[in-house]
Amino acid sequence: MFLVIGATGNIGKHVVAELSSRGLPVRVVSRDIQHARQVLPETVEYMQANLTQEPDVQAALHGVSKIYLATNGPDQLVAETNVINAARNAGVQHVVRVSVIGATPDHFVAIARAHHQLDQLLAESGIPATTLRPNWFMENFFGSADSIVHQGAIYGSADDGRVAFIDSRDTAAVAVRVLTEDGHAGKDYHLTGPEALTFAEAAQRLSEGSGHSVTYINLSDSDFRGALVGAGVPEVFADLYLQINRNARENNLAVVSNTIEAVTGLPARSLAVFTRDNAAAFTPVKA
Ligand SMILES: NC(=O)c1ccc[n+]([C@@H]2O[C@H](COP(=O)([O-])OP(=O)(O)OC[C@H]3O[C@@H](n4cnc5c(N)ncnc54)[C@H](OP(=O)(O)O)[C@@H]3O)[C@@H](O)[C@H]2O)c1
Repeated sequence: MFLVIGATGNIGKHVVAELSSRGLPVRVVSRDIQHARQVLPETVEYMQANLTQEPDVQAALHGVSKIYLATNGPDQLVAETNVINAARNAGVQHVVRVSVIGATPDHFVAIARAHHQLDQLLAESGIPATTLRPNWFMENFFGSADSIVHQGAIYGSADDGRVAFIDSRDTAAVAVRVLTEDGHAGKDYHLTGPEALTFAEAAQRLSEGSGHSVTYINLSDSDFRGALVGAGVPEVFADLYLQINRNARENNLAVVSNTIEAVTGLPARSLAVFTRDNAAAFTPVKA
């Protein structure tokens, strides 16, 4: 049995679809089963679970041999710690975990520090494991869809920093290979798209792919923070966005790897392809 944690997420939904289409037994957990059923195939086994709760974790892992693990948000450290500890005790055969590039104990991006702790815990658990480190998700542009559609603009404070944006369908394809093939235990995969772009260049790709003009507007950190908070973003997330923009500005996300093609045999999707495939999300509705 494959357990997919983060099944309703950007990557996880593609992992579920692919495993399920191969006829493999899949259990998904979600805190909101009704929502999960709307976005995932009928054929999988559904379990309502909040992985901050140890009884839920025990139930979710029952009879499981391999786990895909990606969560987010304020519960992440507790939830993923619970899963790794339970997986070790249950003798799970393989865990594939989504981490981040450059997860170090003293990183200025708070999420990177949390991921470092989880990377360490998984490494010390002795469970055969593979860590995926995807770059900035192209799907993050969905979070800017409103300003793209209504203002023709994306905002940030990344300046001219370059980012090798990645399509989560490619991260999912790597995860499925890792879950279904031998030879990936102990590997740490740095995953990126095919090119490192500035946000101005990314805006250009979004324009070309959607047919709707998009411009990148660079703000100072304080103006960007003010705009985010003014738009209703909670301060803790506004600070996170600033940290991530600084990471891009300092070119910490600019290295392009060929790991996706090496693992899957297919080239990584470009931002142009992502935009074309999702053009409706970035285009004003015609009256
Ligand atoms: N965004 C980026 O650019 C980026 C880049 C590199 C790495 N990452 C990492 O990628 C990971 C997120 O992957 P993603 O984008 O595919 O996921 P996502 O879209 O953020 O979705 C998060 C998933 O976590 C599940 N989840 C959260 N808390 C849970 C809990 N307490 N119990 C059970 N499930 C829980 C959610 O399930 P339900 O809501 O259905 O319960 C949801 O399916 C994070 O670790 C993030 O740091 C992100």
